[in-house]
Amino acid sequence: MKALWRKQVFDLVRPVLLALALSVSFQASSDSSAVASAHPLATDAGIDILKKGGNAFDAAVAVTATLAVVEPYSSGIGGGGFWLLHIEQDHRDVMIDGRERAPLAASRDMYLDDNNEVIPGASIDGALSAGIPGVPAAIEHIALNYGKLPLTVTLEPAIRHARTGFKTDKHYQRMAVFREKALNASPEAAKIFLKNNKAPEPGTLIIQSDLADTLSILAAQGARGFYQGELASKLVTSVVKNGGIWSKEDLASYRIIERTPVSGNYRGMKVISAAPPSSGGVALIQMLNMLAQFDFDSLSQSGRTHLLTEVMRRAYRDRAEYLGDTDFVDVPVDRLISEKHAKTLADSVRLDRATPSDQLRKVAVDANKATDTTHFSVVDKEGNRVAATLSINYPFGSGFVAEATGVLLNDEMDDFSSKPGVPNVYGLVGNEANAIEPGKRMLSSMTPTFLETEERIAVLGTPGGSRIITMVLLAALEFHRGGSADSMVNLGRFHHQYLPDRIFIEPDVFSESLVTALFELGHETSVLDSTFGNMHAIVFDRKRMKLDAAADSRGGGTAAVLH
Ligand code: DON
Repeated sequence: MKALWRKQVFDLVRPVLLALALSVSFQASSDSSAVASAHPLATDAGIDILKKGGNAFDAAVAVTATLAVVEPYSSGIGGGGFWLLHIEQDHRDVMIDGRERAPLAASRDMYLDDNNEVIPGASIDGALSAGIPGVPAAIEHIALNYGKLPLTVTLEPAIRHARTGFKTDKHYQRMAVFREKALNASPEAAKIFLKNNKAPEPGTLIIQSDLADTLSILAAQGARGFYQGELASKLVTSVVKNGGIWSKEDLASYRIIERTPVSGNYRGMKVISAAPPSSGGVALIQMLNMLAQFDFDSLSQSGRTHLLTEVMRRAYRDRAEYLGDTDFVDVPVDRLISEKHAKTLADSVRLDRATPSDQLRKVAVDANKATDTTHFSVVDKEGNRVAATLSINYPFGSGFVAEATGVLLNDEMDDFSSKPGVPNVYGLVGNEANAIEPGKRMLSSMTPTFLETEERIAVLGTPGGSRIITMVLLAALEFHRGGSADSMVNLGRFHHQYLPDRIFIEPDVFSESLVTALFELGHETSVLDSTFGNMHAIVFDRKRMKLDAAADSRGGGTAAVLH
């Protein structure tokens, strides 16, 4: 009776205590702001907009648009993305879903031949592989609903870099070599992004006059200027002429969706992350929930690596089975991120032995290739935050530029499961939940995330296809251990995705003895030739009111703190 009374009183005062705790130790504003992105010109654009009095959301618009110009192999206005926003004055988090949609004429088997086999390249190269872009709509949505400055101001840096050009680097060259064939199949793309049909040498100036005009229309007219009228007609005409299936209705009916992010808790750390149609947040929380069932910190290094592999395996199995666009299919999100489900999954983990993936329940695959996409993070003085992961999918997307628009189209249709059980370009398998349907959003792994402890807040994310979610997991654990923004982004990485049943490891990350110990536990391992990911993170220390930002040393990005 006494216990019940105490509980009732506690329930009554809990909100007050929570509010007090928030106001005392959960300080979110400071006298500085920060931007971390994959290109120095994009970071500079974000900082310039903050200096002009813009907030984090204005800066995010500027960074999004600038990356679309200077990192054309990663994201663009012909692509999509997820912007996770924290609006400090409302104590609210929201996910702006600007993911591409399947065209209305799309059909479940559109990438299969007469023998029901997946047609190689059909969902990766050219106009047929492009979903309906979400970035232009997201730019306007964020500016109108959350920003303070007009698009004519926030898009100015992007328009300038498109008009006067930017200089390529080694990474540009590598990506262009990788996609030379697809780019050469589109005369407009070859003209803009190649030199004499070859990947340009580093230091080459890339001028995008048509894109500058398109961005200027977006700045002056808003999203309407892109999705309706003359520009929309040009896009549709060019796509259809080149084998695509877009219609004017596809563009006119595209809408941004505001979604509630998924959230969870790992040993006192709150996790706020991407909701479906990304699988990122669900899988991330599932993995952390499973880890919480074990005394992770007391394990040896091989024990921890083994356990991490086992939780990755189980989360990616669920991803393949259940995840898709919740506007089209029922995804049991609450069940998947529940503690009860984590306990059931954790019950089958043996600490002394790997569980072969084929013992879990089926689906088949092969390994990954070079990929692209981009992530940036912004925090402003008021404590507003943005974690945005944007994509056109493969490097240079579909390789197709719609005539006289400068718009390089995505090949995000490959993120659908073209055929249940057949892996996509990232080796990921899916089933009915992620089958193609007209107007549906394809499943993503992009995982823009906020982490919050009593002392600190992190804003992070990375590109990397199927490996995005496990990279964010490793960085989240590093943050939980007290690691800085720099140590989070530069941590050595490894990954398991259920199928193929193999741990992929960055070069020079695991010692020989660790690899041997994993082998003895029953794991197959592959040390890769190159690193993966390009993480950008900002960490805010609530007590010291200090911001710390970091760009992944694997990429060419920069991080800047503005005092
Ligand atoms: O949405 C997705 O999951 C993929 N389109 C992301 C692709 C990607 O990260 C490629 N990056 N390196």
